Amino acid sequence: MDIIYSVSELRERLRREPDNVFVPTMGNLHDGHIDLIRVAKPRGSCTVVSIFVNRLQFGPREDYERYPRTLETDCARLKQAGVDVVFAPDEREIYPEPQTYVVEPSDLQHILEGAHRPGHFRGVATVVLKLFNLVMPHSAIFGKKDYQQYLVLRDMVRQLALPIEIIPADTVRAPDGLALSSRNAYLSPDERREAPRLYQVLRESQDDIAGGARDFQRIELNGMSKLADEGWKPDYVAVRRQADLQPPEPGDSALVVLAAARLGRTRLIDNIEVTAPH
Ligand code: PAJ
Repeated sequence: MDIIYSVSELRERLRREPDNVFVPTMGNLHDGHIDLIRVAKPRGSCTVVSIFVNRLQFGPREDYERYPRTLETDCARLKQAGVDVVFAPDEREIYPEPQTYVVEPSDLQHILEGAHRPGHFRGVATVVLKLFNLVMPHSAIFGKKDYQQYLVLRDMVRQLALPIEIIPADTVRAPDGLALSSRNAYLSPDERREAPRLYQVLRESQDDIAGGARDFQRIELNGMSKLADEGWKPDYVAVRRQADLQPPEPGDSALVVLAAARLGRTRLIDNIEVTAPH
């Protein structure tokens, strides 16, 4: 496995690779990330993973500075998972000058996560396009854990006619249901015990919808109050269409319930797909 820090070395290393599959990450890798590599590996002869904490996608009061950086253990895990190339640039390598050209996603960027994290998806789309231009993969894997991110990037590729297939991967969870996330490391032991409630609330909403309930507003409010009752500060619980994250119309059946809530200082997100009966 090659660990590469500079753009020039990366270009040199990948010049002879026609069959790249790419897994972008911000590091502090857990089993969810490793599962993306399992999905990636059979799809090409060279699996490239990037580790880059992208300042552009963090708000001014978010956790850019304290985001966990664990390059050594990350690389050990990636090697074991059979990755071919790790690209771990520092900021000056990716942003040698202020990034004045940016990718402005569609209105999808302003709802749900975007409403609570202004500029977040612009920062994600900009760095991912830049990484795509460096790695030049034919396929890239993204987790459904970040459902809106996956949809924003799928739209970007379609709208800009990039020759890249965006492949979604299922969310990997702890045995108690909590979606794995680098941010789980911020939770105190008490908070960690409480954290699976987010997924439980999603499961209950899923059950209601699968059982025929169509009063989505009630389901959303119900979910929010279950979280608030246990000391969470929910940003949203929302029932949306899988295709575009808009509110369901009568007859829509491919739905997803998405939630974001703060537990102490830690903001957690999760979602669950559900098929509503006709
Ligand atoms: P990061 O949060 O490190 O996530 C990297 C990839 O791992 C994303 O595609 C994310 O959806 C996926 N992932 C995270 N937790 C997961 C889980 N429990 N199960 C399955 N997949 C999971 O997402 C980012 O980094 C950044 O925004 C990035 C795309 C790298 C751009 O900076």
